[in-house]
Amino acid sequence: MTRLGVLLSGRGSNFLAIAEAINNGSLHGCEIVLVLSNKADAPGIDAARQLGLEAYAIPSKGIPRQEHDRQMIAALQEAKVDLICLAGYMRIISPEFIAAFPNRILNIHPSLLPAFPRLDAQGQALEYGAKVAGCTVHFVDEQVDHGTIIVQRTVPVLDDDTHDTLAARILEQEHQAYAEALQRVLSGEYRIEGRRYIRK
Ligand code: GRF
Repeated sequence: MTRLGVLLSGRGSNFLAIAEAINNGSLHGCEIVLVLSNKADAPGIDAARQLGLEAYAIPSKGIPRQEHDRQMIAALQEAKVDLICLAGYMRIISPEFIAAFPNRILNIHPSLLPAFPRLDAQGQALEYGAKVAGCTVHFVDEQVDHGTIIVQRTVPVLDDDTHDTLAARILEQEHQAYAEALQRVLSGEYRIEGRRYIRK
C-alpha cells in the first residue's frame, strides 16, 4: 500500500475526488494517511476529518518558507508518506522539500502546461482567447508548474464561457485526471526520458 499525503489550501475538491476514487476501487494500491493544509480554515481539512482521515493545518502565515517547509516535511515523514499530492496547495515549495521526496510529489494545474502557469490559469486562457483549455498533472520540480507531465485532459472554450463556467468544465476533468495520473505512477510502469513520461 502506497501511503499518500495530500496538501491543500482550500475547498479540497481534488482531494475528495482522490478519496472517492480510492473508496470506489477505481484507484487502488494506495491509501490517504495524512491531509495537511497551510491554512487553518481550509474547508478541505474539515472534509477530510469527516471522512475519518488524519488532517490538520500547519499555518504558514508569518513563517519563513524554509521553516514552514521543514515542519511540513517532518509531519509527512512522521506519517511515513510515500507519495505527495498537491491539490490546490497555494504555496511554492522549497528545493529542500522537493529533495526530501524526489519524483514523489505530484501537482495538478488547471491549464494545458506550459500554457498559463501560476495563478488564475482559467482566467488567463479565457482572456488570451484560447479555444482549448484543460488541466495537467505533473511531477513537481524546482520550477513552478514545470515538471514532467503525467496526464493532460482537454476541454473546449465556448464562446459564451465565463470564468466560472470554464473553471467548472476544467475542474470536472481535473477530478478524473488526478486519479488517472496516480494510478499510472503507482503502477510503476513508466520511465522518464528527459522531460518525457513514457508508459512501458
Ligand atoms: C484546482 O483548480 C487545481 O488545479 C489548482 O487549485 C484548484 C484547487 O481546487 N491547483 P480544489 O481545492 O481541489 O477544489
